[in-house]
Amino acid sequence: MDATIDKIYAEALAELAAAPDAAAVQDLAVRYLGRKGKVTGFLRGIAQLPSTERAQAGKRANEIKRALEAEVEAAQQRLSRDRETVAALDVTLPGRRIHPGVLHPLTQVTGAVCDIFARMGFSVAEGPEVETDYYNFEALNVPKYHPARDMQDTFYVSDNIVLRTQTSPMQIRVMEKQAPPVAVVAPGKVYRCDSDLTHTPMFHQVEGLLVDRDVSFADLKGTLTAFVHEMFDPQTALRFRPSFFPFTEPSAEVDIVCVMCRGAGCRVCGRSGWLEILGAGMVHPNVFRSVGYDSPQVSGFAFGMGVERIAMLKYGIDDIRKFYNNDLRFLGQF
Ligand code: DAH
Repeated sequence: MDATIDKIYAEALAELAAAPDAAAVQDLAVRYLGRKGKVTGFLRGIAQLPSTERAQAGKRANEIKRALEAEVEAAQQRLSRDRETVAALDVTLPGRRIHPGVLHPLTQVTGAVCDIFARMGFSVAEGPEVETDYYNFEALNVPKYHPARDMQDTFYVSDNIVLRTQTSPMQIRVMEKQAPPVAVVAPGKVYRCDSDLTHTPMFHQVEGLLVDRDVSFADLKGTLTAFVHEMFDPQTALRFRPSFFPFTEPSAEVDIVCVMCRGAGCRVCGRSGWLEILGAGMVHPNVFRSVGYDSPQVSGFAFGMGVERIAMLKYGIDDIRKFYNNDLRFLGQF
């Protein structure tokens, strides 16, 4: 007998769950709980049961009646709430603005640098940030204990493993795999134990390398001049200043005329009118030797630039840390 009232209850719940609107719920309430409803009918039938079953069946049937009444009530409330929500929806209100994401300014500048060189025929290569001492230093003509190591404050992972301090090891990795001619740029993260207004312990560089027959310093000047004119504007003056890097000979640093004062001299350029943007030079014979490029006909140039520095100059940003604070008011401007 109990099984029957439980079955009625289960049926009623299934119908209730499927009821599409308040009218359907009302109809269901009549069919189960109304005067001629199934639950009511069952309750009436209890009188005919054997006396031993009556108490038990009556108790169960009343429990179910109350439970079903509560379920019907809840369903009615839910449906009327939904109706109010529909009424409260004002379709004439303006939509909520969706803010599309943008690439980080450093990603954009890295991409722009690589694009400019790609248009000149350079390919793009990437390599490891955790690097061996050999690729980061020794193969680049910086022997162990050489004073030139002081130029870069290095994070050592162990005696022979470092966080790369420059993208220059990519020169070696590319030349080891490939015979000349080579024309490649290598963007990526580099690490130095350094932190102030213009330095962060992690920053980005783009390395460049071109190796072929009869490559001269004039090719280096022409390539970098074309780059600067594309990256900044075609009027930008630049100059090559003699410098020293262990992996190039001769070496130069390239300055562009100060983007703030146009060369008049200001605080940003330290009154010189010039801003350094990259290091470059003719590939040192010892570097060629370490990758087995022994032929005397082979010559090449290399360069390396800091992406943050280029981005700061291009957009007039005075504090390198702004790139890393993740402030959307700053990042959303690019
Ligand atoms: N690796 C140098 C640095 O991080 C930059 C550099 C200078 C790269 C001269 C070069 C180069 O390829 O030829 O300071």
